[in-house]
Amino acid sequence: MMFKDKKFVLGVCGGIAAYKSAELCSWLRKEGAQVRVVMTQHATEFIAPLTFETLTQSPVYLDLFAPPRAYEMEHISWACWGDAFVIAPATANTIAKMAAGIADDALTTLYLSFEGPVVVAPAMNTRMWQHPATRANIATLEVRGVHIISPETGPLACGEEGEGRLASVRTIVDNLAYLLSQTVTKARTPRAHPETDDTTSFQLADSDGPLSGKTVVITSGPTHEYIDPVRFLTNPSSGKMGCALARAAAQLGATVHLVTGPVNPTVLPEECATIHKVTTAEQMLLAVEALRDKADVFIFAAAVSDFRVDRRIEQKIKRTGNSLTLELVENPDIAQAIGAKKRPDQVSVGFAAETHDVEANALCKMSRKRLDAIVANDVANPRIGFESDDNEVTIYVQNGDKRFISRRPKEDVARAVMEVVVELLQQKQRNKQV
Ligand code: PMT
Repeated sequence: MMFKDKKFVLGVCGGIAAYKSAELCSWLRKEGAQVRVVMTQHATEFIAPLTFETLTQSPVYLDLFAPPRAYEMEHISWACWGDAFVIAPATANTIAKMAAGIADDALTTLYLSFEGPVVVAPAMNTRMWQHPATRANIATLEVRGVHIISPETGPLACGEEGEGRLASVRTIVDNLAYLLSQTVTKARTPRAHPETDDTTSFQLADSDGPLSGKTVVITSGPTHEYIDPVRFLTNPSSGKMGCALARAAAQLGATVHLVTGPVNPTVLPEECATIHKVTTAEQMLLAVEALRDKADVFIFAAAVSDFRVDRRIEQKIKRTGNSLTLELVENPDIAQAIGAKKRPDQVSVGFAAETHDVEANALCKMSRKRLDAIVANDVANPRIGFESDDNEVTIYVQNGDKRFISRRPKEDVARAVMEVVVELLQQKQRNKQV
């Protein structure tokens, strides 16, 4: 059970998504957690406290001034009791009060006295979510360390379509598991580097990891498409995401082959069985094709240049006082080429670097490249994606499953991606047995 012996305070605000809190509450209980619920008065318009009292077998905290059933000051005693305070759904109103430090009801009073991790899963109309006041309040809470689980995009109860739906219960549960895991100390054992026998690197014990016996091929970093001997087309990829994936796969026991474009060598992981350094998209394709038959899993994290010059100019181009026209041709699509020929037992996961229409574009790429899952990141956001140490992604799986991984170090995002890889491999194994 994921949350055995864990204690959650669940805050419920007044919005149509309040009914989903009952599902969240029941999920947490099934995973072994104890749950106590605090509701705003408005939340009771959408769902009865009795529902939560039945699910949690505990009284709901609703009214600051109600006569006590047992003598205790809930806003203090519950604050000490809970391992985490999760507010789902959180309305614009409650978020604003939290940001301003207003404590005029049971939920906001409890928030101010709560010392452990606080998780906020907002749900509201798109325009309310995008309003500068809400954006500023969310930013204030983030700066104070509140973990925000962004709402999803889709049809809203008001009949409109857009960002504002409460994140799925699965996503909220995953995020809670991640947050609580941050406080757990993991046992570490030394492991020798396959080439250098350098025993100074440490990682989680892996001999019976879920990927032991599996071979994982990962593309990473940018490609450089030379125009002349000194100029090239490229992008800002640092290779950090691909290298974090390589480490995460090795920690789960996999034999990892990394195919990387030009990156700072200090980011390259020691845990790989082989590292193939390439420059161009065509070289990257050749390297991946050479590894194709032995791979159980492909992860395409590289930011491959989609275009190259038709004919590379042999000598450095000189200024002539005139404009210069370059004719670009399409590079091979590595993920698509591998997807077209992959065996049914092979898992392939791509990345989607998007600046707009993230979900639609990612789903389209997943289908075109015959991927089992795609990890979408917003590369217009400077705090995540290219070069940054952090990433924030949504993982879309072929079966319709969708997981939002809020901003966190790329190492942790990589672990979340590898969890999906393990599930996909298990699914393929089950399909094979049927
Ligand atoms: O390297 P970092 O600085 O850590 O940054 C990480 C990252 C932003 C590069 C990474 O998280 C990421 O998003 N990688 C994919 C970048 C990309 O090229 O995305 P795309 O949407 O253009 O391509 C979709 C998928 O097809 C990707 O899996 C890509 O590797 C693959 N592809 C694309 C073009 C091509 N010619 N061949 C490919 O295999």
